[in-house]
Amino acid sequence: MTDILTINGLVRRFGGVTALAGVDLSLEAGQIRALIGPNGSGKSTLINCVSAVDRWDEGTIVVDGAPVKGRDSVAAARRGIARTFQTLRLFDDMTVLENVMVAMHHSRGYGVFSAVALLPRYRNSEARMRKRALGLLDRVGVAPYADLIAGTLPYGHRRLVEIARALALDPALLLLDEPAAGMNDAETQRLAALVASLGGDDGLSILVVEHNMDFVASVATQVTVLDNGRIIAEGTPAEVREHPDVLRAYLGSEENA
Ligand SMILES: Nc1ncnc2c1ncn2[C@@H]1O[C@H](COP(=O)(O)OP(=O)(O)OP(=O)(O)O)[C@@H](O)[C@H]1O
Ligand SMILES: [Mg+2]
Repeated sequence: MTDILTINGLVRRFGGVTALAGVDLSLEAGQIRALIGPNGSGKSTLINCVSAVDRWDEGTIVVDGAPVKGRDSVAAARRGIARTFQTLRLFDDMTVLENVMVAMHHSRGYGVFSAVALLPRYRNSEARMRKRALGLLDRVGVAPYADLIAGTLPYGHRRLVEIARALALDPALLLLDEPAAGMNDAETQRLAALVASLGGDDGLSILVVEHNMDFVASVATQVTVLDNGRIIAEGTPAEVREHPDVLRAYLGSEENA
């Protein structure tokens, strides 16, 4: 299998804190891998580096055969590196549909500036984009709310809109940072079914950060466990659940909490 994502020796320091201390990680095309670990272990930092929201100090990140350059998230988005954030980042004053369409201006083929300048190429494609955005909202299950102001939606629905927006980039690689955070059990189960089908039916390559082990076990074939910026275990959900270092890391973090 070819790797869609290959990370080698990734180091990210924040002053005296080493958030990532030499991480190697790979994701096969079409695979769903979960990234777990105690609070502060470096999961979001890793997602921020791969999506080029952040930069890093050492190491390389290769997506779809080409290196990712730090702090250039627009370029990363154009290449189909799509993500959601641990803390929701929607445009609360815009409609649900507009939130998804905005991402299409970043996606491959639609330059941001041609959209802003309302060039004919953009106008002609507006109706098509609308249709596609509605399709994506339908895919994640929130199409009935398309014309509502995003900020008025319940939290769980807003999380789904963020996923639709990420899908609008036609992602080569989808990065989800705690997508189930703040969702109730029923919403979490529906989300797990959605993520699993994005990997299965749509064949997307997904790296998902999540604390909920039932969620992880139902979507991911492989799990990477971070602790203090280092990988301490890797394997199937069942394997890492039993791993002594993983149990120790989680226990330790609870004792320290
Ligand atoms: N912008 C930043 N400036 C300084 N330190 C940071 C910054 N971002 C992250 N860190 C530190 O890097 C470490 C890893 O943080 P990170 O957010 O990646 O952890 P995490 O595994 O996502 O945790 P959580 O489960 O709480 O989301 C922590 O010690 C954190 O305080
Ligand atoms: Mg985090």
